[in-house]
Amino acid sequence: MSTVIKNGTVVTADLTYKADVKVEDGTIIEIGLGLKGDKELDATGCYVMPGGIDPHTHLEMPFMGTYSSDDFESGTRAALAGGTTMVVDFALPNPGESLLDALKRWDNKSTRANCDYSFHMAVTWWGEQVFDDIKTVIETRGINTFKHFMAYKGALMVNDDELFASFKRLAELGGVAMVHAENGDVVAELQAKLMAEGNTGPEAHAYSRPPQVEGEATNRAIMIADMAGVPLYVVHTSCEDSHEAIRRAKMQGKRVWGEPLIQHLTLDESEYFNTDWDHAARRVMSPPFRNKQHQDSLWAGLQSGSLSVVATDHCAFTTEQKRYGVGDFTKIPNGTGGLEDRMPMLWTYGVGMGRLTPNEFVAVTSTNIAKILNCYPKKGAILVGADADIVVWDPEKTKTISADSQQSSIDYNVFEGKDVKGLPRFTLTRGQIAVHDGEIRAQEGHGDFVSREPNNQVNRALSTWKELTAPRPVERSGIPATGV
Ligand code: URP
Ligand code: ZN
Ligand code: ZN
Ligand code: ZN
Repeated sequence: MSTVIKNGTVVTADLTYKADVKVEDGTIIEIGLGLKGDKELDATGCYVMPGGIDPHTHLEMPFMGTYSSDDFESGTRAALAGGTTMVVDFALPNPGESLLDALKRWDNKSTRANCDYSFHMAVTWWGEQVFDDIKTVIETRGINTFKHFMAYKGALMVNDDELFASFKRLAELGGVAMVHAENGDVVAELQAKLMAEGNTGPEAHAYSRPPQVEGEATNRAIMIADMAGVPLYVVHTSCEDSHEAIRRAKMQGKRVWGEPLIQHLTLDESEYFNTDWDHAARRVMSPPFRNKQHQDSLWAGLQSGSLSVVATDHCAFTTEQKRYGVGDFTKIPNGTGGLEDRMPMLWTYGVGMGRLTPNEFVAVTSTNIAKILNCYPKKGAILVGADADIVVWDPEKTKTISADSQQSSIDYNVFEGKDVKGLPRFTLTRGQIAVHDGEIRAQEGHGDFVSREPNNQVNRALSTWKELTAPRPVERSGIPATGV
């Protein structure tokens, strides 16, 4: 059975052209005009784009004494509803746990996925076991990206010596280092001080994590990655302080990428000053939302290319879960949702407002990350042979975002009331129609794991350069005698 997407305009990261797209057995088999197939989808007036890739989700994540409420089923259903066809979730080992045991837990959860997915491996502690496991994970499990938390002291955080050891190992094996960049020691001190002073509400979450702590950690991670010779991906870049560090590193030729979230691009810190405790607590995430100047910086980064990818960090907690932190903001589970809303919000506030071109939209929602993850052009492309992960995007379709009609299982939406223009008419996951003109036809368990090889092009270039420029002893003709 073949399907032809007819009469649309193909939009990729670098091209825009009229063509039909023919799909069979989960892949794109032909692109051209006047194609015929067993089934036809009308894309008149629509853009035919690579499905979105969200490289930052936490589905059913054990965190802060609870589990995030969207699992691989509801999370990937939400993704597809918004035009995202692949998610990458973080497998988190407990302290002392082997990386492979943690992966088993993630393997079990992900069997319910409605769309394709991959994993990043987190390094949450350091020892011989982790040193050995990194090699096994890279060589046998199809994972080449490793996340390090520089915050969450006493839980997920690792220190500089552990970062350096892990980064060196990744450099050797062709992996990519990722960091959650916030200075966890300073955050812990600020949290204690604020609590002692009676600052117990959700606004204190923002006070305890100012932009400086993110900027400092980003600079530190960039320096450590440079010393280790590993490419670095900075997740949830939320402020100018961090963006400035990334921008400067890029200008110096360092291999660093920054990932702003749709939440930080479109919501600001005033949310924490809402007098409704629930409203503010529902928006507690790390890093917190920032002011308008920081938002402008993130948009400029997407426009100029100093920031590369827009993600969600989808980590959804119900209001009831958020209330664990009544009277103590440090106990509010950190995280917000966004999987269903990332693409429509970015289209509306990006393309709709002239901040991004449609091609740039595709680059930052799909193609750039597919290249970084080393799964391009299987993902992130409209090309013959690529997976038929496709979104047929209707730029005229509108809705008002509301928790009442969302796929996520939580009871609110941080974008509640936002009017978006630009939504999927159809979403295809490996050729299967998951969204059909507003109707969700996702199929639990359809998602496959996307395996990713190490040593992407950037790793190869960087290791070549590091080898050529490594310190070497000077060859000398004569060495003076010692001791006289
Ligand atoms: O607040 C957040 N971001 N929660 C999820 C875990 C993380 O730091 O990415
Ligand atoms: Zn994080
Ligand atoms: Zn995260
Ligand atoms: Zn299937």
